[in-house]
Amino acid sequence: MTTIRAVPVGVGHYLPERVVPNSEFLDWLDTSDEWIKSRSGIERRHFAAEGELTSDLATQAALNALADAGLEGPDVDAMVLATSTPDYTFPSTATKVQHAIGMTGGFAFDLQAVCAGFSYALANANALIVSGQAKRVLVIGAETFSRIMNWKDRTTCVLFGDGAGALILEAQEGTGDSSDRGILACDLNSDGKYRDLLYVDGGVSSTQTAGVLVMEGPEVFKHAVSKLAKTGNTALAKAGLTHDDVDWVVPHQANLRIIKSTAAKLKVPLEKVIVTVQDHGNTSAASIPLALSVAKSKGQIRKNQLLLTEAIGGGLAWGAVLLRW
Ligand code: UT7
Repeated sequence: MTTIRAVPVGVGHYLPERVVPNSEFLDWLDTSDEWIKSRSGIERRHFAAEGELTSDLATQAALNALADAGLEGPDVDAMVLATSTPDYTFPSTATKVQHAIGMTGGFAFDLQAVCAGFSYALANANALIVSGQAKRVLVIGAETFSRIMNWKDRTTCVLFGDGAGALILEAQEGTGDSSDRGILACDLNSDGKYRDLLYVDGGVSSTQTAGVLVMEGPEVFKHAVSKLAKTGNTALAKAGLTHDDVDWVVPHQANLRIIKSTAAKLKVPLEKVIVTVQDHGNTSAASIPLALSVAKSKGQIRKNQLLLTEAIGGGLAWGAVLLRW
């Protein structure tokens, strides 16, 4: 029996020019390169230039993904842009990017699930394709978290970075079994009772300000370690596959210790895990597509390989998407 699959046909990313090594924080913050590296795995991150917006990063990533696929703006009929740091309250950052890349038809919208944003965006793009509402979807994760940092809070401001990644999914016929290319299974979860563990203390309706990020790091860490392996295993089970079938785990890049312990729980060796957190820091919804694009450009990810992506963030919201490249 044939079935419609959402198959990856192009990937790209963009990082702002300015690289900020851990040493830059030492002038004005009570921290050390050793603490940041040993507790998070982060060595450097990129920060957007003044006036450089989330839409600018997203546009470059989208253009790079289109070039990778050999496509142009009008060839895409939908865009899902995951971000928690939009240019403006409205209109969506996605519609701005839609115009910037010359996407003359279709529809574009933002989606907000913080660090799980790209997993949610992939699942939504998959649903649009499988239900016949779109044929080619640009799925983007783009963030400027440097704009919502509390620079006096050493427990958070050293952890985040800016960047964008984009993936193009195309409707293609599959057989319906797990040897198909494309998205094979999604598992999305959220639980609002954990709201206070990770949030931004401002917003349009509440304070009429953008606010800054507040996080109970160790508590989020505990949830990450237990929930990520579980959602990863659920996605594998939905597709009738196991950890032995996985070629690459592409995790949300928040903390190297979380990445390692999740891989161990999933029973996937670290050699099969894409790690970019040392170079990008935590770029929230951008971290998975950034990791996909970097890994593809290094020749690590190849056609027909099985990829398990997983992420958790504010909400709490978490999930996993299993796809064959
Ligand atoms: O992407 C969304 C999901 N987010 C995450 O997954 C983040 C999850 N959490 C984490 O990654 C970790 O909890 C952190 C990296 C945020 C913190 O690591 P930790 O091992 O949990 O450290 P901690 O918060 O328990 O702090 C240990 C010590 C504390 O000092 P005392 O109380 O033991 O004296 C902190 O005050 O380290 C201190 N500390 C710092 N020291 C130097 C906290 N931040 C810093 C810092 N530099 N930047």
